[in-house]
Amino acid sequence: MNVVDALKARRTIRGYKPDPIPDDILLEILDHARLAPSNCNTQPWHLTVVSGEARDKLEKALVEEIVSGKAPSPGFKPGDADLGGVYKERQYDCAMRYYSTMDIERHERDKRQALMLKNWEFFGAPHVGFISMPGGMGPVNALDVGIYLQTLMLLLVEYGAASCPQGALAFYPDPIKEIASLPEGHEIICGLSFGYEDKGAKINEVTMDRAPLDSMLTLIK
Ligand SMILES: Cc1cc2nc3c(=O)[nH]c(=O)nc-3n(C[C@H](O)[C@H](O)[C@H](O)COP(=O)(O)O)c2cc1C
Repeated sequence: MNVVDALKARRTIRGYKPDPIPDDILLEILDHARLAPSNCNTQPWHLTVVSGEARDKLEKALVEEIVSGKAPSPGFKPGDADLGGVYKERQYDCAMRYYSTMDIERHERDKRQALMLKNWEFFGAPHVGFISMPGGMGPVNALDVGIYLQTLMLLLVEYGAASCPQGALAFYPDPIKEIASLPEGHEIICGLSFGYEDKGAKINEVTMDRAPLDSMLTLIK
């Protein structure tokens, strides 16, 4: 598989088989992901992978936290905060594609919330990763973490696995810090549920498009 093939094959997957990725394969993938570049080679990312009983315990704790009505307390400003203009429109389009695939109408608030809750059930994936960086770091360091995230997602594709990056997994850090113990002073920037795709899952039929090249590019000669 070349880079273009991997880019085209990667999609956000939200329905998984229960089978875990074997430890030796997972470690091989994670060893390759270390090759991601970063500003001054600082490599500010840390990945905590939670699987097995700890994963189930964490899912239960997170769902309890959310159902209890606790307010979110992310360590970094969420990506959907203060969106306006075309960015708000794209966010809306993304949500609408997701709901229509699942036959959910906009007014069906309970169904939308139930679908949202699946974020903290890790969409049934056998593994969940928490990508963190030191709490005092800023956007340029977050860029490094994003490069690491995409590197890891493309590697998972090459190894026949799939993933779902999740900003939502940064919203309720307390149970994660308790059960998964992040490095001292780190805050979660993004979560990543991953495993093998359930090809029959309806939720995986959702498709997203991209803005045309000329809307994001300026070429000057
Ligand atoms: C940093 C980041 C955070 C995301 N957070 C979530 C999330 O919390 N929940 C979710 O279901 N999808 C999440 N997504 C997936 C996006 O909705 C998805 O990447 C986008 O719609 C494009 O679709 P594609 O990945 O299938 O190409 C996130 C993606 C990224 C890159």
